[in-house]
Amino acid sequence: MNEKQLAAEKSIEFIKDGMILGLGTGSTVFFLVNRLAESIKQGLKVKCVSTSNQTSTLAKSLGIEIIDLNEVAYIDLTIDGADEVDKNLNGIKGGGGALLFEKIVAKASMKVIWIVDSSKFVEQLGKFPLPVEVVPFGSNHVFRKFLESGYNPTKRKNGEHNFITDSGNEIIDLQLNKIEDSIKLENEVKLLPGVVEVGLFNNIADIVIIGRENSTEIISRV
Ligand code: 5RP
Repeated sequence: MNEKQLAAEKSIEFIKDGMILGLGTGSTVFFLVNRLAESIKQGLKVKCVSTSNQTSTLAKSLGIEIIDLNEVAYIDLTIDGADEVDKNLNGIKGGGGALLFEKIVAKASMKVIWIVDSSKFVEQLGKFPLPVEVVPFGSNHVFRKFLESGYNPTKRKNGEHNFITDSGNEIIDLQLNKIEDSIKLENEVKLLPGVVEVGLFNNIADIVIIGRENSTEIISRV
């Protein structure tokens, strides 16, 4: 079993009958959704809120019930992947382009668990390019602001065209290498008109499950 699968399988232990579950996006969540579908076939009763079209399609194809976030007052538990996590359980997300819905779902959740392989647990955030979701209108001007700030922006592409998120926006990835103060940076970037969301997830994860070779390590927020 690879590390992503190990972390995903472990996270299943946190799911209880009757829960409203938030399902993240990505290749680690793929293992979770498949394992969850097996548990549901064996009698587990849960309803799920999805963070992307990709996850909704997969979940529905496996017989998992997906409901709208607006139908529930809150989500009991959200399980999602991450691109980088530090020891304070702050992280970068959005490598798969689902950061906006992922953050909305996480903020509506009583508890958030991230499932990651060991390469994602880092000393300092920033090697992974920081995704910023921006509205297409005037996005070149936001891009220029990032360039002037020295943030090394790149517009995410899908072939020759701009990558478009599930909400019809574009993504600008910032190659920062080191993020000294992730809270300050999140606030600064979010203030720019045209920015919809930033892939910095500060003080959101409660638990991180790290897959390590043949075992898992669980880190909880203190
Ligand atoms: C998608 C995300 C993913 O959770 C993140 O990119 C991790 O993906 P993977 O599990 O495929 O490594 O934030 O927007």
